Amino acid sequence: EQRVTVRELAQAKRRQERWVMLTAYDALTAGLFDEQKVPALLVGDSAANVVYGFDSTVRVGMDHLMPLVQAVVRGTRHALVVADMPFGSYQDSVTTALTNATRFLQEGGAQAVKLEGGARVVDQVSALVEAGIPVMGHLGLTPQSVHALGGYRVQGRAEAGEQLLADAKALAAAGAFALVLEVVPSDLARRVTAEVDIPTIGIGAGADCDAQVLVWQDLAGLTPAPAPKFVKRYADMRSQLAESVGEFIDDVAAGRYPDSQHCYS
Ligand code: KIV
Ligand code: NA
Repeated sequence: EQRVTVRELAQAKRRQERWVMLTAYDALTAGLFDEQKVPALLVGDSAANVVYGFDSTVRVGMDHLMPLVQAVVRGTRHALVVADMPFGSYQDSVTTALTNATRFLQEGGAQAVKLEGGARVVDQVSALVEAGIPVMGHLGLTPQSVHALGGYRVQGRAEAGEQLLADAKALAAAGAFALVLEVVPSDLARRVTAEVDIPTIGIGAGADCDAQVLVWQDLAGLTPAPAPKFVKRYADMRSQLAESVGEFIDDVAAGRYPDSQHCYS
């Protein structure tokens, strides 16, 4: 079985077919998403929060993400695996970006990388694309710049919207194959989606993007409430898991587990 290609994702835009991306950080859950035919899996630097327990994505680097990329690749056969380039792994130069993106493909087994920013990273984007590395862009609320943006707030309102549109066009011109739009007004996301040829993948960017992405633990209701406004919790795994653990504790205390069916003679 062949993996989904960036070409197929581009074709979906032309056919106006909407698709999803999910984050993934381990082989087991990635394999489950793969069986559901999720076309693209992002090994996000959101691992900082949901895997490593940091409060910001600026705290993780290549060494944190590489083993997760490898696990997700091992656990999947169908999905396009996108490795998120962590803070510090691409900003300072084209050479740094090439070295680290190459590692994600070569050692990690990923098929593409993602990096944050617009005009300021177009040199990196074109160099990677020329080297044969598919690049996904990321604009709007870019968490690696949270300290510069002044917090986790809606981006691209008013004049900043024109700047974001220009950044989107610059990324597309540099050869990015898709673009994440995070926490921007729906009107702006609709404009960007209409005016660039590459698929837009929204998260808190309204219904008119070509695709949608969620952190899987948010979708599953595993992350603690309150979730950001854009999150739809499709399950309540946090309660279910908490209940299961509680029952296990009670069963063992009461001598109900293990019983004969769980024991070897
Ligand atoms: O790291 C991440 O999970 C992301 C997505 C939210 C797009 O960058
Ligand atoms: Na990210």
